[in-house]
Amino acid sequence: MLKNILVVDDELSMQKVLSAMLQKEGYKVITANNGKEALEHFKKDSPNLVITDLKMPEMDGMTLLSEIMKVSPGVPVIMITAHGTVETAVSAMKQGAYDFIIKPFDINEIKQVVEKALNVQEKNTQNFLISPEDEDEIVGKSPKMQEVYQMIEKVSKSVATVYIRGESGTGKELAARAIHYRSDRKDKPFIKVNCAAIPENLLESELFGYEKGAFTGANVAKPGRFELADGGTLFLDEIAEMSINNQSKLFRVLQEREFERIGGVRTIKVDIRLVVATSKNLQEYVAEGKFREELYYRLNVVPISLPPLRERKEDIKALVEFFISRFNKREGKNIRGISDDALKTLMDYPWQGNIRELENVIERTVVLEDVEILQTEHFPHLKTNVETGSQKLTLKEESKKGKTETEKSLIIEALQASNGNRTKAAEALGISRRTLQLKIKEYSLNHL
Ligand SMILES: Nc1ncnc2c1ncn2[C@@H]1O[C@H](COP(=O)(O)OP(=O)(O)OP(=O)(O)O)[C@@H](O)[C@H]1O
Ligand SMILES: [Mg+2]
Repeated sequence: MLKNILVVDDELSMQKVLSAMLQKEGYKVITANNGKEALEHFKKDSPNLVITDLKMPEMDGMTLLSEIMKVSPGVPVIMITAHGTVETAVSAMKQGAYDFIIKPFDINEIKQVVEKALNVQEKNTQNFLISPEDEDEIVGKSPKMQEVYQMIEKVSKSVATVYIRGESGTGKELAARAIHYRSDRKDKPFIKVNCAAIPENLLESELFGYEKGAFTGANVAKPGRFELADGGTLFLDEIAEMSINNQSKLFRVLQEREFERIGGVRTIKVDIRLVVATSKNLQEYVAEGKFREELYYRLNVVPISLPPLRERKEDIKALVEFFISRFNKREGKNIRGISDDALKTLMDYPWQGNIRELENVIERTVVLEDVEILQTEHFPHLKTNVETGSQKLTLKEESKKGKTETEKSLIIEALQASNGNRTKAAEALGISRRTLQLKIKEYSLNHL
């Protein structure tokens, strides 16, 4: 498809020169005389790139830049500037401009910058393949997801332990798989252990295996998941639910990189890449004595945070289309899409269960409805929520909960940093010692 470039300049001659040159290069060009007009075009035509002058009537280039950054920070903006305003251009770069060009400019220079910027734009606005070799995708083009993709790309090239955190249903397991299938361990096993699903006393033998006769019922020897994952990746899901006892064993194995099967004497060495995930706040678990601090540090080498769906609403449309097409195939249906109103209903919903919840909602709707386009009425459950205002309440509660959680973890951090010194911690937090004492009581952090 033809790439779309928005050229913004109050000087008609400049508009013409730039348009002619870019059209000759095979781009589609839209022009605007000022920032205000440009913003309208931007929303309507979704250009791939913006080239804008700085000084213009109505709305100048800097304001336009900040407006664009608010809606679509993935679209590169190139500033054109006269010699006198280079400083402004530098501050534009700090605000997210891709590059700037000084007038009078050289046509070749513009060509190069445009080409480079468009490459970046293309890379920054795509879904992410779990494995470069098949078609399984992580859907989401938002800047927050782009950050996640970059982290996955970086860590998949190393063997460092990765700690994935994120609310329930945000795609932690998908991320773990992407890390494995994009690494050079991809032809070796990817072994998953859900620490919450296996009873405490069985987890140890699941992880490390046992020899024949190690305990009653151990009639044959069995290798553990650590051995099965040799050469590949071991994914410990819901790591926060592991008992303290098993945490100690895990810590020892990670430290020494070797272990014995239960009831065994032979030392086993394995080469594994470890990925762990949790939806819990591990730091809080550490502060509450439910998670071993040394293990936490051992695991928290490279943290990757998956954003909740409500913080990347711009991805909802693509996710909805992705799930409609998936369930169309499975159910042999032919639903073509979703109405604007229905999409708005989905965008206004808080999605506490994140993508898993959205997936379930679309699955249910595709199974139940036989229509071409899904309408708001096909999502009765969500609609009621918005209409009764219960969604507002949830959001409010959520924001309050968020605040207390942030406050609590800030206090924990400050206390840990000051080795429990109340005066120093209060100072670091910018609150009085008395207030800190009250908060420590409120959050039961006396042991810190
Ligand atoms: N970005 C995405 N694109 C497509 N599908 C996704 C995406 N994120 C999550 N999913 C789907 O949503 C469901 C939940 O994802 P996943 O199991 O990875 O989440 P999780 O964070 O591990 O959740 P939990 O904490 O509940 O275990 C899966 O069916 C997964 O395929
Ligand atoms: Mg999971």
